[in-house]
Amino acid sequence: MSEQSQITERASGPAIQVRGLVKSYQKLHVLGGVDFDVARGSIFALLGSNGAGKTTVVRILSTLLRADAGTASVNGFDVATQAAKVRESISLTGQFAAVDEILSGRENLVLVARLRHLRNPGRIADELLARFSLTDAARRRVSTYSGGMRRRLDIAMSLIGSPPVIFLDEPTTGLDPQARLEVWQAVRELARQGTTVLLTTQYLDEAEQLADRIAVLHRGRIIANGTLPELKQLLPPAKVEYVEKQPTLEDVFLAIVGADGADGADGADGADGTDGTDGTDGTDGTDGVDRTDRNEPTDGTERTERTERTERTERTERTDRNEPTDGTGRSEGVASPTGTSN
Ligand SMILES: Nc1ncnc2c1ncn2[C@@H]1O[C@H](COP(=O)(O)OP(=O)(O)OP(=O)(O)O)[C@@H](O)[C@H]1O
Ligand SMILES: [Mg+2]
Repeated sequence: MSEQSQITERASGPAIQVRGLVKSYQKLHVLGGVDFDVARGSIFALLGSNGAGKTTVVRILSTLLRADAGTASVNGFDVATQAAKVRESISLTGQFAAVDEILSGRENLVLVARLRHLRNPGRIADELLARFSLTDAARRRVSTYSGGMRRRLDIAMSLIGSPPVIFLDEPTTGLDPQARLEVWQAVRELARQGTTVLLTTQYLDEAEQLADRIAVLHRGRIIANGTLPELKQLLPPAKVEYVEKQPTLEDVFLAIVGADGADGADGADGADGTDGTDGTDGTDGTDGVDRTDRNEPTDGTERTERTERTERTERTERTDRNEPTDGTGRSEGVASPTGTSN
């Protein structure tokens, strides 16, 4: 620990500096000159589609892989020539959880603390278990943990020894929304305590929620790098808007019972949905007005149809931007509770 403090004090400048990083796997050119800096104590999100090279960047920065060209430093140490110092400065939570299934959560943590020659491994383990809401499950085998619990344990293990720089490779892929929130909370807490976090993700909303700075890796290069407001001017905001425009409980409520206001009395009749004004007449382009002057049948299909119309209308009204019209974005937003795959 004290050694790590010295390391922290020694280093100055950005926590991570990457210049002209090039990497190919045989004929596959993955990185074609990648540049970026990560300020100390900040959260930096590296965005990119499957195969963009995010894990490759992380593996180079964590000294697991050598770049073909270019330079990179972490905590002031060169990844190629000072690999041992870099390793002392970092921890890596890989894309796939690296916890021991046979051991309990607590045993996993104690093991890592012992491997790092820290004093009081039991206390360290208990503190981390509490911090990641795993105290109740502490003595259960990890094989009985949910995906979110495993991921949290995985991140907890990477914090042992308080490294100044942490790499999280897709920390929330495959997690349910609640588990994602818990991981996000843990990451925020890390940054609050001064740890530099580089995370990779495919989720715009994750980057939006967490990152001070976001870089987009595409075709071997960083094609955008900035704060969220800066990037919002560059990227089509479609996905974010879909998430924000999911019907609220209020929307559902209004759709079922009818809105109040001038037409409120209308809600008293035709409650059986037999009024025949089923919304197929094409006069419903005015959104809220349309919603108030009909009594919707209570079956799910009608509601869904109308909600989609409303969303479409809102989108059209609000922007003239290049929104996806194929429904892909929408289903992505709606489907998040059932998880994603990678
Ligand atoms: N050891 C390897 N040998 C050959 N090709 C590799 C190797 N590792 C990665 N690749 C290829 O390099 C490309 C980039 O892989 P990488 O894992 O860095 O992408 P990624 O952005 O992390 O993707 P994902 O979002 O799927 O995790 C992919 O096409 C991958 O198949
Ligand atoms: Mg990856």
